[in-house]
Amino acid sequence: MQKKNLDIESNFKIREICLEDIDYILKIEQESHPDPWSRKMFENELKLDYSNFFIGNIKSEIVSYIIFWHVIDEAYLTNITVSKDYRKLGIGEKMLNFAIGISKSLEIKKMLLEVRENNLPAILFYKKHGFKETYIRKKYYSNSENAIVMERSL
Ligand SMILES: CC(C)(COP(=O)(O)OP(=O)(O)OC[C@H]1O[C@@H](n2cnc3c(N)ncnc32)[C@H](O)[C@@H]1OP(=O)(O)O)[C@@H](O)C(=O)NCCC(=O)NCCS
Repeated sequence: MQKKNLDIESNFKIREICLEDIDYILKIEQESHPDPWSRKMFENELKLDYSNFFIGNIKSEIVSYIIFWHVIDEAYLTNITVSKDYRKLGIGEKMLNFAIGISKSLEIKKMLLEVRENNLPAILFYKKHGFKETYIRKKYYSNSENAIVMERSL
């Protein structure tokens, strides 16, 4: 099917993750990140009471997921990923806005994240949504790449 012809507005839904979804998430994760999260890491998120883990579906297909932590009055975005075939269709924006909406409703004041300094699509995505670069964590990733810390108020 031509993905761009899909009616995202009527077919896209966000729901909480369940254990059985992790197989699908792992496939998307592996094609999307140089240092993908393992099954154990995803499973662990389900046990953390401060972690929020949601998936985005088109019909029954999982096409995206987002994980964000609430720690006191800050939200920390630890993972946002859209399946390769469904990028640049506004799905990342829907996932992020969903996380921001939940966070605001809980009176969370700020959202923070780390992004690889070479991940230009993600950096542009975050800037488009009001995130500003605050500082650099030198050689943060296993390949020695720097992390840019970005944040925005909610
Ligand atoms: C970052 C990511 C979640 C964005 O999701 P998406 O659904 O493609 O994003 P949207 O369609 O909602 O937003 C598009 C905007 O994001 C930015 N963007 C996304 N991909 C881009 C690309 N390949 N080149 C340039 N800008 C890009 C632009 O600001 C774009 O807005 P524009 O079309 O007005 O220029 C997605 O690219 C992804 O899953 N990447 C791999 C995983 C990843 O890097 N996650 C972030 C880790 S910190």
